Amino acid sequence: MKRLQRLRRTASLRDLCAETSFGAAQLVQPLFLDAGLSGGRPVPGMPDIQTHGHDALLAQVDADLEAGVRQFLLFPVPARKQERLFDSAFACRAIEQIRARCGTEASLWVDTCLCSHTQSGHCCLFDAAGRQELPQTLAALAELALAYAGAGADGIAPSDMNDGRVAHLRARLDAAGHDLLPIMSYSSKFASALYGPFRVAAQSTPQQGDRRGYQLDIRSRREALAASRRCAEEGADLLMVKPGLTSIDLLAPIAADTGLPVGAFQVSGEYASLALLAREGLGEFDRLLLEALLVIRRAGASFIISYGARRARALGLH
Ligand code: PBG
Ligand code: ZN
Repeated sequence: MKRLQRLRRTASLRDLCAETSFGAAQLVQPLFLDAGLSGGRPVPGMPDIQTHGHDALLAQVDADLEAGVRQFLLFPVPARKQERLFDSAFACRAIEQIRARCGTEASLWVDTCLCSHTQSGHCCLFDAAGRQELPQTLAALAELALAYAGAGADGIAPSDMNDGRVAHLRARLDAAGHDLLPIMSYSSKFASALYGPFRVAAQSTPQQGDRRGYQLDIRSRREALAASRRCAEEGADLLMVKPGLTSIDLLAPIAADTGLPVGAFQVSGEYASLALLAREGLGEFDRLLLEALLVIRRAGASFIISYGARRARALGLH
């Protein structure tokens, strides 16, 4: 009989034949910077994850670099919500200092969106009648992106899903001399129920309504492919699906369609759900985490953004 199990008998044989692996270079660690905070505050349901004040964030980055973390994604959370003019100075101060620490070994990406800034908690601006104001939204996003770029970000990551944002950001960055700055687009981002813990950390819960008017419907496959294709056409350098596990069917098709590297964001609710299983004694957190990350990679992710990046790194990554 053909025994397919022959190559599964020992760890050494399994390692010999393993088809999937990843290293620190492909794992992106999210960081929350809260301008209104000193020290750190745990994020509910998210082991090892805090929102940080300025000094605490730098200490975290120092520890991460020491431990071999090589990719960061910063989420700036301003101290106050505004209608129109958004504060980027606190983020820029941190970006400058993190950049100096990263050297050429590590990269700092900066999430670029409005939802932590706006009083509405939405990723776009609205006029008095409640209609989306696209040109003003794109202009506001560009102001943030230009500030982050000027402070030394290695790349920006627009997460808003507004039409035309990549083209607009690319043009504005190029005009300001940042033509070598890459854009990592949240290109196929679904209106998901899995963003709960993040919205507590980023203080970005919509005050009214939800994000289904601009994020993708989870039932849509054609539209999800079209959204990533459009980002590619507009000049995105890296694409991303989000949430991670619930979008793995899209990774390979998007990569084939665009020829670009496509990553996945294992979002806050995915990470927290693994922690809940472990807390209830129904699974081992480290094994759950590695399984989820490996499956996302097996499905074709070029890189993975995960709250467990530093933990996976410490586990040896396979
Ligand atoms: C905001 C943003 C969200 C995430 C990244 N950027 C939440 C949302 O769209 O409501 C989700 C991250 C997570 O849940 O870990 N534009
Ligand atoms: Zn947003």
